[in-house]
Amino acid sequence: MKFLVSIIISVVIVLLISCGGQDGKPKSKLEITQEVFGQTESGQQVDIYTLTNTNGMQVRITNYGAIVQSLTVSDRNGKTEDVVLGYDKLENYIQDASYFGCVVGRFGNRISKGKFMLDNKEYTLATNNGPNHLHGGKKGFNKVVWDGKSVKNKESVGLKLIYLSKDGEEGYPGNLNSSLVYTLTNNNELQIEYEATTDKATPVNLTHHGYFNLSGNCKSDILSHELWINANTFTPIDSTSIPTGNLPSVENTPFDFNSPTAIGVRINDENEQLKFGLGYDHNWVLNNVDGTMKLQASLYEPTSGRLMEIYTEEPGLQFYSGNFLDGSISGKKEIIYKHRYAAVLETQHFPDSPNQPDFISTILKPGETYKTKTIYRFSTK
Ligand code: GLA
Repeated sequence: MKFLVSIIISVVIVLLISCGGQDGKPKSKLEITQEVFGQTESGQQVDIYTLTNTNGMQVRITNYGAIVQSLTVSDRNGKTEDVVLGYDKLENYIQDASYFGCVVGRFGNRISKGKFMLDNKEYTLATNNGPNHLHGGKKGFNKVVWDGKSVKNKESVGLKLIYLSKDGEEGYPGNLNSSLVYTLTNNNELQIEYEATTDKATPVNLTHHGYFNLSGNCKSDILSHELWINANTFTPIDSTSIPTGNLPSVENTPFDFNSPTAIGVRINDENEQLKFGLGYDHNWVLNNVDGTMKLQASLYEPTSGRLMEIYTEEPGLQFYSGNFLDGSISGKKEIIYKHRYAAVLETQHFPDSPNQPDFISTILKPGETYKTKTIYRFSTK
């Protein structure tokens, strides 16, 4: 009997070792699973998909608002923790006014006074942010149910999400057929591919609005996170957060992140721009933009060793330092989200582009395809 038990134990050990990764740790399986997350107020079913790669990195995404509900990655000691803010329940996302983890659209960021001219016609949108329009309006892409479909490849798993934004929705012209593909690779990349076509000219500016805190499970604020942004200029704002149209140099200002700098070092400097944004809430003009994928920014948290690198084809990056978080939101696992407990890094075209003739155009015309990609890559150092 003793002999039999020891044989069984040896077989189990051999099996465990043979299933292990290079570092001896058991490898996880590349997979995507789907379960019900809840129902909207009108009774529509909402799902949540769990994407896991062979390193054990896991991303949970719901087809409500295309929201990344959780993103768990290892620290330098192999401890896996959640690095994004959000909620445990769908109900909280339905109520949410902070845009946790979603995709914003049809137009991410602000449009001055909620008005723009296109082909000699004036369009009026909701003013849901002081005098201005923000993140697609009252019911933007973050508050709708997308159609979801799992995608499985050899070295990655993905979720394709589709949404038809009807002509006139939130005041925007044209039926906009939008699709997103979230992909988790075995390289620890979360890739987002955005595509859209329209039957009338319309502004489009889609972006992911993840609130990152790389300390893991929100253990500290983000003031000691080191940020690098490859940008020599930025788009300063007026007191209502609309770009003035100038593109001044970041040199010798708190907006210079050309070498990695802790976010907290200059955030309280006497500076009109920091006053207007209540901290950082600005768009940087990325260097060397030519529409191809480039490494343009990174965020590093020294205690955990987690590094997030951002590759994008977009010309701009909005960095928002969680200035409106004030401890009134209780998030996942009842963690209280306090002031500056997250960094939001939104790759996009510049805010208010439909009203700024000198900015790169954000108008999509019939026959054209809006197509852009951003990658968040995780590692440790
Ligand atoms: C964006 C804006 C911020 C704020 C957040 C959501 O990042 O730039 O001003 O509205 O969304 O709270």
